[in-house]
Amino acid sequence: MIELAPSILSADFAHLAEQVARAGEGGAAVIHVDIMDGHFVPNLTIGPPVVKSLRRATRLPLDCHLMIESPDEFIPMFVEAGANWISVHQEACVHLNRTLQHIRDHGARPGVVINPATPVEMLSEVLDMVDYVLVMSVNPGFGAQKFLPGSLHKVRKLAEIREHRRLNYRIEIDGGVALDTMGDIVRAGAEILVAGNAVFGKGDPKTNAEQLLKAAAEATLLRV
Ligand code: DX5
Ligand code: ZN
Repeated sequence: MIELAPSILSADFAHLAEQVARAGEGGAAVIHVDIMDGHFVPNLTIGPPVVKSLRRATRLPLDCHLMIESPDEFIPMFVEAGANWISVHQEACVHLNRTLQHIRDHGARPGVVINPATPVEMLSEVLDMVDYVLVMSVNPGFGAQKFLPGSLHKVRKLAEIREHRRLNYRIEIDGGVALDTMGDIVRAGAEILVAGNAVFGKGDPKTNAEQLLKAAAEATLLRV
């Protein structure tokens, strides 16, 4: 099943509730929340208080993508604030197994993320622990960057491994997802589509979400 996960990074933060509601009316299934610490990535965004407010503003699950160093100490705070899914970067976690278990123990769904320079092989020992794998298709830190097509072979490989090892994780992709990249992304096998600029950059988030989902559905029909 294909799902759209609008990233609020490109939303108008002064009208967050409204913008998220519009995206939901357009068919968004989950709200993607980008947490950046100014160390792991060269940008700063938001923390648990905004997640807490968002939790009151929408019924959709909140997918918190932690682009932070030492995520372990913040996981309980994000769960407490209302995060339903929490993903951490392989590159940021020295004890990745423990961190993923920590997320599950706190009651959230664990996901693991890889940067464009990180191969899928780095995840082989944790694929049976996660509910989803997030493939970055831009270098994290900013919205509205150009899609890196080199990420598509990782999506294909993750789908193959899942079948071969009979695992259940879902495959999410993040960065440069838009009408013109959607076909390749969906045909490669991505199932959770994060889109920031394409939903909130300009125009109405509802219409934008509808159009992205329509493009995704058309690509599914053509999937070979
Ligand atoms: C990038 C973030 C993304 C970002 C995607 O570091 O992880 O979630 O918002 O933005 P777009 O869809 O604009 O490339
Ligand atoms: Zn993200």
